[in-house]
Amino acid sequence: MGLSGKLLQIIVPAGVIIFAMAAAAAAATAATNAKPGCPNKCGDVEIPFPFGLTEACYLDESFNITCDSGIPIIGNIPVTNISIETHELHILNLVARDCYNRSGQLVSNNQSWLQAAEFTISNTKNKFTVIGCDTYAYLSGYQNGEWYSIGCASQCPSLRNVVNDSCSGVGCCEVGFPDGLKDIKVEVNSFSSNHSNVFNFNPCGYAFVVEKGEFNFSSNYLYDLPYKRVPLVFDWAVGNLTCEEARNKSNFICQDENSECIDPQHREGYRCMCKQGYKGNPYLYGGCQDIDECVDPNLNNCTKMCNNTEGNYTCYCPKEYHGDGRKDGEGCSADPATVLAIKIPIITGVSFVAMLVVSSWMYFVHKKRKLIKLKESFFRQNGGLILEQQLSKQQGSRETAKIFTVEELNKATNNYEESRIIGRGGFGIVYKGILPDKRIVAIKKSKTVDQNQIDQFVNEIVLLSQINHRNVVKLLGCCLEAQVPLLVYEFVPKGTLFKYIHRESSTSTIQWDTRLRIAAETADALSYLHSAASTPIIHRDVKSSNILLDDDFTAKVSDFGTSRLVPRDQKELATVMQGTLGYLDPEYLQTNQLTEKSDVYSFGVILVELLTGGDVLSFNRSEKERSLAMYFLSSLKEDRLFEILENGIVEGGNEEQIKEVVELAKRCLRLKGDERPTMKEVAMELEGIRKMEALSWVNVQSNLEEAEHLLGETSHSNEYGGSRRTVVYDSMNDQVTLALGYGR
Ligand SMILES: *[C@@H]1O[C@H](CO)[C@@H](O)[C@H](O)[C@H]1NC(C)=O
Ligand SMILES: *[C@@H]1O[C@H](CO)[C@@H](O)[C@H](O)[C@H]1NC(C)=O
Ligand SMILES: *[C@@H]1O[C@H](CO)[C@@H](O)[C@H](O)[C@H]1NC(C)=O
Ligand SMILES: *[C@@H]1O[C@H](CO)[C@@H](O)[C@H](O)[C@H]1NC(C)=O
Repeated sequence: MGLSGKLLQIIVPAGVIIFAMAAAAAAATAATNAKPGCPNKCGDVEIPFPFGLTEACYLDESFNITCDSGIPIIGNIPVTNISIETHELHILNLVARDCYNRSGQLVSNNQSWLQAAEFTISNTKNKFTVIGCDTYAYLSGYQNGEWYSIGCASQCPSLRNVVNDSCSGVGCCEVGFPDGLKDIKVEVNSFSSNHSNVFNFNPCGYAFVVEKGEFNFSSNYLYDLPYKRVPLVFDWAVGNLTCEEARNKSNFICQDENSECIDPQHREGYRCMCKQGYKGNPYLYGGCQDIDECVDPNLNNCTKMCNNTEGNYTCYCPKEYHGDGRKDGEGCSADPATVLAIKIPIITGVSFVAMLVVSSWMYFVHKKRKLIKLKESFFRQNGGLILEQQLSKQQGSRETAKIFTVEELNKATNNYEESRIIGRGGFGIVYKGILPDKRIVAIKKSKTVDQNQIDQFVNEIVLLSQINHRNVVKLLGCCLEAQVPLLVYEFVPKGTLFKYIHRESSTSTIQWDTRLRIAAETADALSYLHSAASTPIIHRDVKSSNILLDDDFTAKVSDFGTSRLVPRDQKELATVMQGTLGYLDPEYLQTNQLTEKSDVYSFGVILVELLTGGDVLSFNRSEKERSLAMYFLSSLKEDRLFEILENGIVEGGNEEQIKEVVELAKRCLRLKGDERPTMKEVAMELEGIRKMEALSWVNVQSNLEEAEHLLGETSHSNEYGGSRRTVVYDSMNDQVTLALGYGR
């Protein structure tokens, strides 16, 4: 637009110049104001119709001009210029003079007569001037048919008061006269002494009608006026009829359609005038031509662009000024420089902004694309494809894991705010998150991008998404777009069983029946994993810190990071050793053969934990009894079981139950996996033991209520108020294990 605007500005003046040149050329050739075929010039003087040099060329005798060796003569008067616009006729008029000799005798008296039928002298353009120091003169003529006369006299005894360049009244007097005088006569005479008194400096008197501004008086003129003739301006008109009278006559001459008839003031006859907007010779048919006002800035007052029309013109605002081509005077007032000055910054500004927008958009798109690519690569890297496949396989099942976006989880954790951290471990960090639907979730964010861990994550997702058990922590979804995979779980408020077993204060230890229920529920969950799920799942890392507790102490098994699906036809699985020392199946340690019984062994350790509250590994114990299982078994052998039981557990006649559970734990901890009961058997037995408790219902009920009331109170005030983190040092793993047990 900027370029086209400039081009337009270059083209327009060029066009104007060309057009003006064409118009000038046309005027030189076409605008001969003479009658067609008539000579239009005499000497330098143009002879327009109604004037003419020959009978065929002039309107009537009064316009007959003779060309005498290059000087046009009308009557006997030399003509210097003829105008058909102003109806002026510039002529050279004789100066009237009378001259005397020293003795006062008249030498010559030349009066001037000016007879030209159609012509009157213009009172606005001329003045009557008299020169002499003993002189008076008359100007006489006919005004509307009446004889009129005016005089001017000058008398001065010396040159002393004579002033140059001004007809002040001393030695020179001048006077105006009425309009419309014709057939004038100028008569000059001696005022008193026939110049005898002033002969030394003024022997003659002079009088003449002269065009204003064309004569400058000088004192020298009193000695002798060097001019025989002075310029004078005639007015002229056609005939002696008014327009109205003439219009009906056959010889009415204002015939051109663009010509109009005007009655001149103070004189007879009529004049033809081109209508406004036209120029040319109104006396010729087709003589009035449209004026291109746009060519001459004096003819139009357009501030911007001018458009010539027939007999008129219009102004308009070019597009580059307002863009809407509105008419001049309607706001198109800025000059091109200003407009350009305004426009250039605007254009540059706009284009700069546009460039900025485009480039930032491109940058954004690029970044976004990069981000998407990155996300995709993370997704792939994080096993998203496998997961998608896996998830799509089980499309039919009731609940499948949702795949969250990075943004959703950023929002849920308030950009992983410090205060949202509910657990830390070697594996990474667990954040408390709040989903848009106000659901509270736990978001597990891995610390490293170890490919092994990623496999575990995917594995866990696939497993958990298949599991729907009230004692298994529910996986809500995951996010694989992030650099590290993120898992979204249901939030389990009370944290790990480990915390409740191994807490320092004994006031809020879990009561026996709750422990028994937790054991039964955990066993049920593991049993379900081993048998009820579509593909048997070996947890491989059953431990108290992987058992979470709900508000009502419902157990929820978590952390399936090391879990493996075991095809039904395959009872054993050779794997790289995984699990936690102290819980690890000794058989598995030896053979590397993973079976469901490995989980049973680990569960046995948990039972012992529940019974004794002892550390799974303790360096306070002898080397043989360093692991809780060995310590427990040796204590049993030595029949000092009740020494190692948790304080306050044996209460209200639950010894039978405890004995049964001790017996069960013993069987779970058998060295040979084959000799251990299945998880299903364990679960059933624990249910049976719980029913034993029901027999002594009344006794237990009060204890239970009391205990739970106490627990609820302390859990809020002491341990789990707000977002306080509880971190436990796991000496064997030599790593920080998070209290909520999402880690290992
Ligand atoms: C006649 O008068 C016109 C306008 O006053 C002027 O342009 C032109 O030059 C004059 N012609 C002569 C020969 O003086
Ligand atoms: C003035 O008039 C005389 C005759 O009266 C004549 O001879 C002379 O040429 C005239 N001079 C002029 C300038 O007209
Ligand atoms: C007027 O001007 C002329 C020459 O231009 C000069 O000779 C003369 O003395 C001047 N007269 C007066 C009164 O100044
Ligand atoms: C110039 O503009 C005035 C109004 O500002 C208008 O009345 C007039 O007709 C215009 N004249 C010409 C010659 O354009």
